[in-house]
Amino acid sequence: MMPTHVTLVDVGPRDGLQNEAQPVAAAQKIELVHRLQAAGLKEIEVTSYVSPKWVPQMADNAEVMRGIRRPPGVRHSVLVPNMKGLEAALTDPAARPDEVVVFGAASEAFSRRNINCSVAESIERFRPVVAAAHEAGLKVRGAISCAVGCPYQGEVTPDEVELVVRLMKAIGVDHCGIADTIGVGTPRRVQAVMERALKHYPLVEVSGHFHDTYGQALANIYACLEMGIHHFDASVAGLGGCPYAKGATGNVATEDVVFMLHGMGIATGIDLDALVDAGAYISGVLGRPPVSRAGKALLAKRGVAVEAAGAGA
Ligand code: HMG
Ligand code: MG
Repeated sequence: MMPTHVTLVDVGPRDGLQNEAQPVAAAQKIELVHRLQAAGLKEIEVTSYVSPKWVPQMADNAEVMRGIRRPPGVRHSVLVPNMKGLEAALTDPAARPDEVVVFGAASEAFSRRNINCSVAESIERFRPVVAAAHEAGLKVRGAISCAVGCPYQGEVTPDEVELVVRLMKAIGVDHCGIADTIGVGTPRRVQAVMERALKHYPLVEVSGHFHDTYGQALANIYACLEMGIHHFDASVAGLGGCPYAKGATGNVATEDVVFMLHGMGIATGIDLDALVDAGAYISGVLGRPPVSRAGKALLAKRGVAVEAAGAGA
């Protein structure tokens, strides 16, 4: 049955900005988070506590976390690959996240490239992270990259995904995020993978994270909705990519997902116009038009030249 309400996690500040070659100031990241909050986003993936040698774009993690307003009801999450990341995320009470995300992969090759260890080793690294996060009262989401295909290994089978789902469940990860890192998934393939996740996690704790590289993300979200899945990651202005997955473009744009869901009578709690403003803001910072089709269309309807919306801010 189709859900009547969908929760969207905007991952733009993290997944989007981790991939930008040009520097984005902490103040601009903070402003983006504030604009997402103003648009009604209740879940925002703000940053990651990873090695600054691997991803220099996220080196200002604590500064951004300290700088954001924390209105009640809004959950802020951060990525942590290991205990060092979790400890850094918890050092300053003023920078404390509501949730942490451990990120593994269904493909051995991608696991090595992205977090420098095998799938089995990654689970052993996550085990104490999950326990310590729980002890600190934090929810732990798990992300499983390359759940439909891998840039290094090619085909990834539902069996390979289910193995990692099962391992994440065994170490106590609360939520299972299935990620199509390189956007090669198509609806039936995605449903086959989601079925495996749903064997181990309840509907409320399964989500989809779809990069839109091949233009399939909205169709894949629709396919998940048909299964009752009602939790998705999306990225304002279609920002995103992964530095360790060459050619992977951004996540599905939050504006496009909201436009589709509202058109289907599915509530999100998000104000699309305010979200379009947030997308125009960050696109202006980056000096390019938003990737979101709905964002561009709505800006054009307002009489804002789309190039002007991306002309620096
Ligand atoms: P490593 O080099 O194997 O780590 O990296 P190590 O434990 O051997 O330590 C090496 C150095 O890194 C040491 O410093 C550590 O202190 C430091 P040194 O002594 O050389 O000065 N270090 C850290 N520094 C800060 N924070 C930490 C940390 N850990 C170690 N947490 C590591 C292993 C996991 C750290 C590295 O591979 C890494 O940071 N990888 C992150 C890559 C990344 O962020 N990728 C993008 C996010 S995932 C993604 O985008 C996919 C997703 O969107 C879903 C999808 O679309 O698929 C989630
Ligand atoms: Mg991603």
